[in-house]
Amino acid sequence: MSVTSNYFETSYPFELSDVDGAAIATSLSRMNDVHTWIDLGCGPILPIWAAFVRSARRVIGLDALEENVAFVKSQLEARRVLEPHRRALRFARDELGFGDVVEEEAARVLFDRIVEVSQWDVLQCCERWVGECDLVSQVGCFGCLQSFPQVRDALCNASRYLRPGGRFLSVTWVQKQYDGQRGWNGPVSAELTRESMIGMCIDAGLSISRADVLETRDPTYDSMLLLETIRR
Ligand SMILES: C[S@@+](CC[C@H](N)C(=O)[O-])C[C@H]1O[C@@H](n2cnc3c(N)ncnc32)[C@H](O)[C@@H]1O
Repeated sequence: MSVTSNYFETSYPFELSDVDGAAIATSLSRMNDVHTWIDLGCGPILPIWAAFVRSARRVIGLDALEENVAFVKSQLEARRVLEPHRRALRFARDELGFGDVVEEEAARVLFDRIVEVSQWDVLQCCERWVGECDLVSQVGCFGCLQSFPQVRDALCNASRYLRPGGRFLSVTWVQKQYDGQRGWNGPVSAELTRESMIGMCIDAGLSISRADVLETRDPTYDSMLLLETIRR
């Protein structure tokens, strides 16, 4: 199994121990009145997170890795609801109060609103989307970056995509020491703190509505920083 399909299959089991998945899904599910949403560093699982943002009409996924982009595109083409998607839909129904969805409705919720998936580096601003979005998210992407200046640049780009009043959800896993082993995390993951993220968000024109240090099910990380912010 490739790294990409393994990530798709295993990253969010949405079972009792999956406190990470539960916290992210819950936060996304509260993002109402979203027309346009960009998920930065979407990986192979954009349709899974789409299960929780039902109001979004245009969903865009950007990721640096060609394999991830191709994986999501193939899912959009096939429109097949697979077990990782079903787990997300069950969690949405059983834990978050969403209604049950029949097969065709599930495919619409998961795939049909995704209007673009592109290979793109979050350090570059995609001018087409500037000022267009009601929601921008990054889940585990900025932790892959190399340094604070890169996180600052990525945050400024995220902020630029938002309309005034639009929301930015940031989720970053932190570890005490960067061991160079984790392909999905970069050196900055050992340096980011709640306070540094708050400061950089404010500098990027974002007001903080929530900044929590949460537990993670992955023992190789120390915690998960979840910030919800609003474009001033
Ligand atoms: C830990 S995975 C998270 C995937 C997904 N967002 C999730 O919620 O599980 C990190 C993702 O960020 C992407 N990524 C890392 N650095 C990036 C960059 N500079 N620009 C765009 N995407 C990047 C990786 O390719 C990967 O898909």
